[in-house]
Amino acid sequence: MEYSKEILSFDEQVILQLRALYRKHGYSQYKMSRFEEYELYAGNKAFLPAGEILAFTGVGGKLMALRPDVTLSIVKYTDDEDELKKLYYNENVYRSDGMDFKEQMQVGVECLGKVDVSIMGEVLMLARQSLEVLGADSSLDVSHMGYLGGLLQSEGMTHSQCGEVVAMLREKNASGLKELCCKHGFSDEFCEKITVLSTIYGPYEEVADKLQRLSANEDMNAALQELDELHEVLCELGVRQGVNIDFSIVNDISYYSGVIFQGYIKGIPEKVIAGGRYDELLRKFGKTSGAIGFAVYLDVLEISQTGMAEMSGTVSGAEAESVSSAEMINIALPKGRLGESAYSIFEASGYGCPEIREESRKLVFESPENGVRFFWVKPSDVAKYVERGTADIGIVGKDILLEYTPEVYELLDLGIGKCSMCVAAQKGFKYNKSGKTLRVATKFPHIARGFYQKMGREIDVIKLNGSIELAPLLGLSDVIVDIVESGRTLLENDMEPTETIVDISARLISNKASYKFNHESIDRLCARIGEQL
Ligand code: PRP
Repeated sequence: MEYSKEILSFDEQVILQLRALYRKHGYSQYKMSRFEEYELYAGNKAFLPAGEILAFTGVGGKLMALRPDVTLSIVKYTDDEDELKKLYYNENVYRSDGMDFKEQMQVGVECLGKVDVSIMGEVLMLARQSLEVLGADSSLDVSHMGYLGGLLQSEGMTHSQCGEVVAMLREKNASGLKELCCKHGFSDEFCEKITVLSTIYGPYEEVADKLQRLSANEDMNAALQELDELHEVLCELGVRQGVNIDFSIVNDISYYSGVIFQGYIKGIPEKVIAGGRYDELLRKFGKTSGAIGFAVYLDVLEISQTGMAEMSGTVSGAEAESVSSAEMINIALPKGRLGESAYSIFEASGYGCPEIREESRKLVFESPENGVRFFWVKPSDVAKYVERGTADIGIVGKDILLEYTPEVYELLDLGIGKCSMCVAAQKGFKYNKSGKTLRVATKFPHIARGFYQKMGREIDVIKLNGSIELAPLLGLSDVIVDIVESGRTLLENDMEPTETIVDISARLISNKASYKFNHESIDRLCARIGEQL
């Protein structure tokens, strides 16, 4: 029986094309059960995306799970042999998004056995070609755990310091990295190197010299040598474009050992492919061979197709936008005083939009001459607009970033909107440690919990939405965790700050995918704004 392409949905067409691609290169399909022993996932939580595991009691009382991941099962059931196994899968996984469990279709490739640079090249080529199946404009971004590991080792830092550096690197947060180096007393040389590394983005041939100059030891040299060979293999395979080096991609070092990568499609705010070399996972299963693979997240494509349609309708109201309009940088500004100060900096940097100064209730303003479109957004929503890619960049307080931890790049500290996140109480308040659990009223439950957790102190968090200072006055809480700017609100309500948790200022953030496809214009904008600060 013949089928016409029209009866297939976009997802189904993509899946069939990907399967055909992997089969053509000698990969055979791996089928598996959707149930697995819970223990497999509980013992490897750091390998899984964050979230709950859907568990149930199986026949005989054994704790089972609906699989949240495919790779772990493949590793568990594949023999440790020298011979290379080239597998692909097309399976559902069951993951929580924090609110609910979702069934998500995944297609992916795994190579287990003797993995050399030509196999790594083939897998990267397949990831690159998979992106081409998914969308016209795409980027495969590559990093190397060995190179980064070598740099971190050169400074001899503790495990928790490594974690702090990696978190800043993931955000391309150069100013945060500098602060961190200062706080921990890291050498100037390391500080310079890690800061430069955070800003590197581009094709291997353009960044190779810089990486060479940053190299500080044998591990970094060996990683560079591998990247060099991989680049050659990719060129031989005809992959000459759409591959970029980006060290803000960092995976868990206890599972991933070498090359790692993520794939992005223009217009989709999240990664659609993730993969890398995971030899360390095999060691956890007592296996000696190597492994590399990747997964294609088809659910991201689905959500984004709807999201993109809605967004273009809201912003322009027109079907076909002019090229210059489509290429504008979309900027989310927080409504209020902070947004106005931030706009003045944009204006002084050559990104002004005179209409925004006029008295009106409009929320969207465009300046095609300067290539920018501004939106006025509720301050606490800026990060969401940027994380979802509706805005390419935005201005947001560090308090919001610490509270909601959005997946964004933090490119600049604007040094405006300065204030502190503090614990405050009524004057003379004494906390009786042997007494009841401390009641903390706040708009920032995540920050408050984190602060007291570090001290090992249990608290009762009371989440409020405003006028936090009222809570201790009326006996609703013992203390508050809140922003203190001038200190006037505390003073006039007979309260005082007792501890400073963190200093706050406004940051310029960017959507990760937007940065990848517009990094030249975003870097130019950041440089011009940097000159004004
Ligand atoms: C913030 C914060 C404090 C106040 C501190 O409130 O929550 O209440 O500003 O400023 P100060 O130290 O200069 O007095 P905001 O104005 O956002 O209003 P809210 O209470 O409704 O959250």
